Amino acid sequence: MYLGADYYPEHWEKERWPIDAELMQKAGINVVRLAEFAWSKLEPEDNVHDFKWLDEVMDVLNKRGVKVILSTPTAAPPSWLINKHPHILPLLKNGQRMAFGARRHYCITNRTYYYYSERIIRKLAEHYKNDPQVIGWQIDNEFGGPKCYCDNCKKEFQHWLKLKYKTLENLNQSWGNAFWSHDYTSWEEIPLPIVDYHNPTFDLDFRRFFSDMTLKYSNMQIRILKSITPDKFITHNFMGLFPQLNYYKLAEKYDFVSWDNYPEKLENKFHIGLAHDIMRGLKKKNFWVMEERVSYIIREDIIIPTLPPGQMRLWTYQCYAHGAEAVVYFRWRACSFGIEQFDSGILGHDGTDKSISYREAAQMGSEIRRIGPQFEGSKVVSPAAIVYDYDNVWVNYAYQERPMYNYPDEMLRFYKAIRKRGINVDMVKSTDELSKYKAIIAPLMYIVTDEAADNIKRYVEKGGIFIAGFRFGIKDTHSNMVKSVLPGKLEKLFGLSIHTWDNLREKKVEVKDTEGNIYQADTFADLITPKEAKPIARYNSNWYTGHTAVAVNTFGKGRAYYVGCGLPQGFYDRFIEKILPGLALESIKVPDEVEIATRGKKGKRFVFVMNFSAKPSRIFLKKKYTELIKGERLEEKIDLGPFEVLILM
Ligand code: GLA
Repeated sequence: MYLGADYYPEHWEKERWPIDAELMQKAGINVVRLAEFAWSKLEPEDNVHDFKWLDEVMDVLNKRGVKVILSTPTAAPPSWLINKHPHILPLLKNGQRMAFGARRHYCITNRTYYYYSERIIRKLAEHYKNDPQVIGWQIDNEFGGPKCYCDNCKKEFQHWLKLKYKTLENLNQSWGNAFWSHDYTSWEEIPLPIVDYHNPTFDLDFRRFFSDMTLKYSNMQIRILKSITPDKFITHNFMGLFPQLNYYKLAEKYDFVSWDNYPEKLENKFHIGLAHDIMRGLKKKNFWVMEERVSYIIREDIIIPTLPPGQMRLWTYQCYAHGAEAVVYFRWRACSFGIEQFDSGILGHDGTDKSISYREAAQMGSEIRRIGPQFEGSKVVSPAAIVYDYDNVWVNYAYQERPMYNYPDEMLRFYKAIRKRGINVDMVKSTDELSKYKAIIAPLMYIVTDEAADNIKRYVEKGGIFIAGFRFGIKDTHSNMVKSVLPGKLEKLFGLSIHTWDNLREKKVEVKDTEGNIYQADTFADLITPKEAKPIARYNSNWYTGHTAVAVNTFGKGRAYYVGCGLPQGFYDRFIEKILPGLALESIKVPDEVEIATRGKKGKRFVFVMNFSAKPSRIFLKKKYTELIKGERLEEKIDLGPFEVLILM
């Protein structure tokens, strides 16, 4: 199993390289990622390439058994290239051209940039194609912006729309351009969404376009590398809950997904867990963490404090618990210059092995070398899944830069309730094969396509449990409001109708369930009129009184639940306990601060027990277990130390 570090030899004098390689070997670091920001060193002048320094440092690393993931350096085009072709710089929404001096300063549709990108990638691939030390590639770095509003992007967007809508009449109809006289009479008239206050369908299509243009650029790089180095894996470092790209599409042609994980607070353990599960769901397979936080980070918008001893290791084990096959720490050594000089490394600025993070990396190194092979390749099997479609993530923005509702929080309401019971959760598309799941949850599923509606109906008919959150099915695939009675296409499945709804904002609205529990509703309220469906909870104050807030309907062999408003976590915990009995891990009892996740292979199950608390936590094992890390037999009452991790078998 690989445990690695993101290494930037171009930031240090070459006399330092052997010292780093020795310290890596001592810590059990057996892979490094190189060169994602090294274009100016790899091609110091136009078509003048220098790979000598990279060859040298790779030799030094090779002697210490350290493998290499090489990157395509296209996330930071060098100054000579930009000065030769300034139109490569993105034109921002405010009409200004992005200046040189940061990174990701390229227009995603720029053909000149395609040319130079292709050239440096081919050179690198040809040079390293037979080098066994290079096990794989990372393409670019964290795709995702900035969006460009230049003439070429506009032409590409008009072309993209023409391919999608075929006729202007169809586009004007689908966009609802009768509103405020937005009808276009030629494709060349169609602008980019620069005016803030713009048509939601226009907005959605531009988001889809930008994602497709990124996909096109990413696939270009994959094609070249696959053609020259077919035996080396190709991945990209995704960003968890980042909403601007359709990650399912982007991930398709990669061998596996990698992502960059910078957990901030212990109490965010489920938020980070959710991000891991989204990354695993992109290709329905285990993934790498290509940048794992080491310790402090100070940036213009955030100050993340130094991690106390034990926490770096805790977050690392959470990666494995959710399906990581390898973890690569960002970064090997804190850099003494540049924008990120306040980002921590396994080694501090002094380069000694005296840091907490070096000690912890070395502990991880020896543990993973010893126990990693046991759970390597084991699968995360989940009886429940949450629907996560990017069209719904984008529709949630309507036409603004800030979302109408907090999408991650709406997912976390249900996710936390399920994860607290030690039940694994997958993230799926609404059109995926669902039959293996006991329950499917769909928060903020604005758009229900015909295909998704049929898929969900089939799933419930066969005995599945489907749980919708509020705002279900209110929009069509053009982000226009549906004209049918809500919840739209699946009205029959839910056996109810919704004619009135409200945004709650500060309003205090009480909800009482059929067992007499009282809750404060929040965020949004659908006032449900049940038909065949049975109320589970009703509004109990204001003019809402008597209306149904939560309902369930039996449909075929299955059940469809509609949770029509936001409620406190306690409601979801009780709700999930009731409707998903018997799925929880009964043999291990843990308090809320302890997370449990399981992986399995060849009949063996690995239960990761992680104490996300700076205080000791007591857990109860109702049967005997072998603990993998320490090799102990454990049962009954166990006091976990702060940040302690167990892997039980
Ligand atoms: C991101 C980037 C890295 C670096 C780290 C810093 O994830 O990929 O290049 O900027 O953040 O935390």
